[in-house]
Amino acid sequence: MIQETLTPTAARRYYDLIGARYDWFAFYEARAKQLALELLDLAPGQSVLNVGMGTGKESLAIQEAIRPGGAAFGVDLSPAMLLAARQRNLPALCQADGRWLPFAGESFDRLLSTYVLDLIPAWDLISMLSGYRRLLKPGGRLVLLSLTEGVDQASRGFVRLWKLAYNLSPIACGGCRPLQLTGLVEEAGLSLLQREVIVQWGVPSEVIVAVR
Ligand SMILES: C[S@@+](CC[C@H](N)C(=O)[O-])C[C@H]1O[C@@H](n2cnc3c(N)ncnc32)[C@H](O)[C@@H]1O
Repeated sequence: MIQETLTPTAARRYYDLIGARYDWFAFYEARAKQLALELLDLAPGQSVLNVGMGTGKESLAIQEAIRPGGAAFGVDLSPAMLLAARQRNLPALCQADGRWLPFAGESFDRLLSTYVLDLIPAWDLISMLSGYRRLLKPGGRLVLLSLTEGVDQASRGFVRLWKLAYNLSPIACGGCRPLQLTGLVEEAGLSLLQREVIVQWGVPSEVIVAVR
């Protein structure tokens, strides 16, 4: 695993620059995100947190799925992303670092985080996942989505080139590097339920489902 990534300040600056334009890159993420939302297993009345929610597209889908009686919360490091998400009429948003989330323990039935851990340095991953675990109610479900290692010729070729680019300039890759999270999720005290790899346009994404 690539150990070092962007500093939080560099990540915030980068995503502030990109803002709502992030959705232009959705062409390689759409199928994996669809699966992640399905595996979140949403139902009316649930309380759901989306960490690093970006422009809020998935939070909007979550908000619809947990009506009536549910509550969808979103956090992001980048003020520009929060602004983009607010324009989607998402009420419960706050600026926070996913490593130090400002919520009481056992607050959420579901927690989603898509293409965010890819940006977190290796030495912070387990404590961040432990933080996610702390926020879930007993039996609560975590769904993670990240760039991962290739599984076929096209995606292996893509990842080789991506890593070369990343070594030259992490910022040119938005700070995202491929991860394999199953072991880390278990080290953080969560029970792994499922791992799927979706390849779209040669880009491999890992969907992880775990429960507290
Ligand atoms: C690659 S984008 C993904 C956005 C969204 N989850 C999606 O899948 O469309 C990464 C997002 O994570 C946010 N982010 C980066 N580091 C973060 C951190 N330490 N805590 C919270 N959000 C962070 C960025 O501002 C950005 O919105």
